[in-house]
Parts: sequence; structure tokens; C-alpha cells
Amino acid sequence: MHISIIGCGYLGAVHAVCMAKLGHDVVGIDTDSWKIGELQAGRVPFFEPGLPELLDEVLATGRLKFSPNMADAKGAQVHFLCVGTPQRKGAYAADMRHVDGAFTALLGSLEPGNVVVGKSTVPVGTAARLAELLADHHPDSVVAWNPEFLREGFAVKDTLSPDRFVYGVPDGEPGARATAALDEIYSTPLSLGTRRLVADYATAELVKAAANSFLATKISFINAMAEVCEVTGADVTVLADAIGLDERIGRKFLNAGIGFGGGCLPKDIRAFMARAGELGADQALTFLREVDDINVRRRMRAVELTRGLLGGSLLGRRITVLGAAFKPDSDDVRDSPALNIAAQLQLQGAAVTVTDPRAIDGARHRFPELAYERDLDEAMSDADALLLLTEWDEYRAITPERSAQLVRTRNILDGRNVLDGSTWRAAGWSYKGIGTP
Ligand code: UDX
Repeated sequence: MHISIIGCGYLGAVHAVCMAKLGHDVVGIDTDSWKIGELQAGRVPFFEPGLPELLDEVLATGRLKFSPNMADAKGAQVHFLCVGTPQRKGAYAADMRHVDGAFTALLGSLEPGNVVVGKSTVPVGTAARLAELLADHHPDSVVAWNPEFLREGFAVKDTLSPDRFVYGVPDGEPGARATAALDEIYSTPLSLGTRRLVADYATAELVKAAANSFLATKISFINAMAEVCEVTGADVTVLADAIGLDERIGRKFLNAGIGFGGGCLPKDIRAFMARAGELGADQALTFLREVDDINVRRRMRAVELTRGLLGGSLLGRRITVLGAAFKPDSDDVRDSPALNIAAQLQLQGAAVTVTDPRAIDGARHRFPELAYERDLDEAMSDADALLLLTEWDEYRAITPERSAQLVRTRNILDGRNVLDGSTWRAAGWSYKGIGTP
């Protein structure tokens, strides 16, 4: 198939590379000509394991090209909209300017029979609205909504062999045509057994919002249990293992810690609440406000636990934050709990040094007032407290003996509950986990 991908950010770049890998002829389009130049030269402008190698592989086949001109979308049979929907400034709702702008710009490049497939995470009702617009200009083209569920760090795998495909399509012949086009594009993963569900527009859009809401709720649930564990002396990690053995609950996404962040979960649950409010169904989602509150509370709690470790005062104390990315195997610092905690500590008088294997440049850009150190040993030197806030493998592997030789005082907050507290305590450290005795 000839495919265009509109928007080559995280989602679009991964989708473009993976669609070329599946054998299609792909043009990736973005208004940011620097990004286009990087991708065309075989450089991925963000960190995603496996993507640089795959980009090299598909560029060499000649099946993938990048362009800053929307006119180059002409000739593609299927156009994927992969632009961002960030949180609107000063509001909970999604900022739809990129989706609307890209869609309008694409109209000039469409040809009869084309399929426009939305992948961006959008408020329910968007696909129907865009379909109406399309009908005015190109009555023989069709809109479909095919949400993505990719996780950063696993983006290639999640695109090439996802858990499921969801297609939101209109009724009748146009819907059948859109379904057939998507089936052809995804024929390889479909033939390997990936499930595919066909639904109406609203259901497809809601699947994404519901999935992210459920994941966020699961994390906030276990973090709420961590709060209760802290006042009862119970251990949330054992609790999670025990309830997770119930197949109906499952152990995944039950890791208590400093909470969720990133470019998706926080803004998606807020946009979902905002949209439900517009539709008069806000009561149905008031629990998401609590999910959000619990999550934000974890960051404040980490600051308080650090103050406690340091004997009640942060003033002038040297704190080393291990990890700036919102999760390991990513250089993404958008709404990163780790970076938020580092900044709060600094504002409250501590001298904070942040280290991270991948995210220092992005973190420095967001919070230039924090100190950054790439070398791990150097970062830990003379610290009054270590805070493990993003569970990179290299931080999980730190031993109490090695770091004891570097720090000034043996204090550690394990914000992700990934270290063995008893080993650290036995080595003379004041160790604090989250929701553990
Ligand atoms: C998420 C969804 O998983 C994905 O399906 C969707 O398409 C986009 O949003 P992502 O943002 O890449 O993906 O990260 P994810 O792995 O879901 O983690 C989100 C946050 O939750 C991270 O900050 C992570 O540290 C935190 N988390 C995750 C926990 O605090 N505890 C857990 O048990 C799991």
C-alpha cells in the first residue's frame, strides 16, 4: 500500500518506520523540517530502543521517505493522522489545533477513494466531526479511527505486534472499504493472530480513553494502598503480589511508587474528564479526579519522605536524584514525577543533582536551575541522600557498598520499590521505600 503519515513525532515516526517494515511504501510528513531532516538522514530525534536500527533498515529499502510538504501525501491511498493532542494551556481539555490543522492541510492532497485514518488520541466525537468535513470536500473518501496503544520503550513491538487493533469506521460500504484497507496494511500481524475489533467511531475513540483511564486507576489504586500501608506498617509490595495472583486483578501496573507521568496518562485522563463534562456525563468520571489527586500526592509524599530521611530539614542538603525520565528506557521528561520531585526539593532549599542515562538534555531544557551530572559515581559523590526515582537497570544494580564509598551520609529513598531494603539497611543505610515498613 502507498501510505502517508502526517506528523512524525513519537507516534508518527514509529508508525512510519514500522509500516515500511511491513512492506508498504511510506512517506512521513511533518511541518518541522529539522525533524524531517534528521529522520531522512537515519537519525531518530528521541530515544526509543530498536528504532534507529529499524529506521536504517527500511531507509535502505527505499520504501520510506520523509518530507516537510503536505503535497507529498498525494498518491497515498491511506493517510494516517499522527499529530499530538497536548493538554490545552490553563484547561483540562485536549488542544486540537494540530489535528484540525493537519486534517485541513491534508484535504488538498486527497484523491478519490482515499482513507484518512486517525491515530491521535482525541476527544470522543472528533472522528464524526472530521468525517463531516471530509464529506463536504471529498464525498468518496472515508475517515476511520484506529487508536494506538504503544508504550514508550516498547513502541516498535507494540506497533508491529500489538495486543489488538481497533478500527472505528462508519456504516455501510465506506466502512467496509476502510476496514479492508486497514486489514491489508496490517495483514502481517493479523495473519500472526493479532485480534482486530471493528466498531463505530465513538467506541473506537473511547477504547483509548478507557484503556488509559484504567491503567491510571490501577496505579493510583496501589498508591492509595501504599498510603494505607504507611499508616498501618503493612507492606504494599507484598500486598500487590498477593492480590496480583488473583487472575481477575493481575500483577501488572500494580507497582506503587511516585506515580505515573509522561506525555499520555496524565493529560489523557484530564482530557477525558473535560470531554465527559462537555457531554453532560461528568459524574461518570469524577473518580478520575481522585485518581489524578492520588497521583499528584505521591510527588509531595516523596518530598516529605526525603525531608524525614534528612532529619527534618532540606536546607542546604545535597540530594542526588537518580533518574529524570518519566520511566526507564525513555528520554521523555514530559510530566515526569522524578523531575517534578527534584524541582520541588530544590525550591525548598536543597541542592539537587540529577543524573539519568538518557534524559539529561531534555530535563535541563525544562528545569535549567537544577544541577545535572552524567557520570553516576560523580553524581552520588558527597550526597546527603540518594533518591531512586526512575528505575533504570543501572540504578537497580547499584550496591549499598559501592555507593557508601561515594556519599556523605547513607540515606536512600527508593521511589520505585526496586531495591532490597533489608540489604541496604544491613549495610548501614537509612533506607525508605514507598508504602513499605
Ligand atoms: C501509556 C500506555 O501504557 C499506552 O498504552 C498508551 O498508548 C500511552 O500511555 P506510556 O506513557 O509509554 O504508555 O507509559 P506506561 O508504561 O504506561 O507508564 C506510565 C507511567 O506509569 C510511568 O510514569 C510509569 O513509571 C508509571 N507506572 C507504571 C507506575 O507508577 N506503576 C506501574 O505499576 C506502572
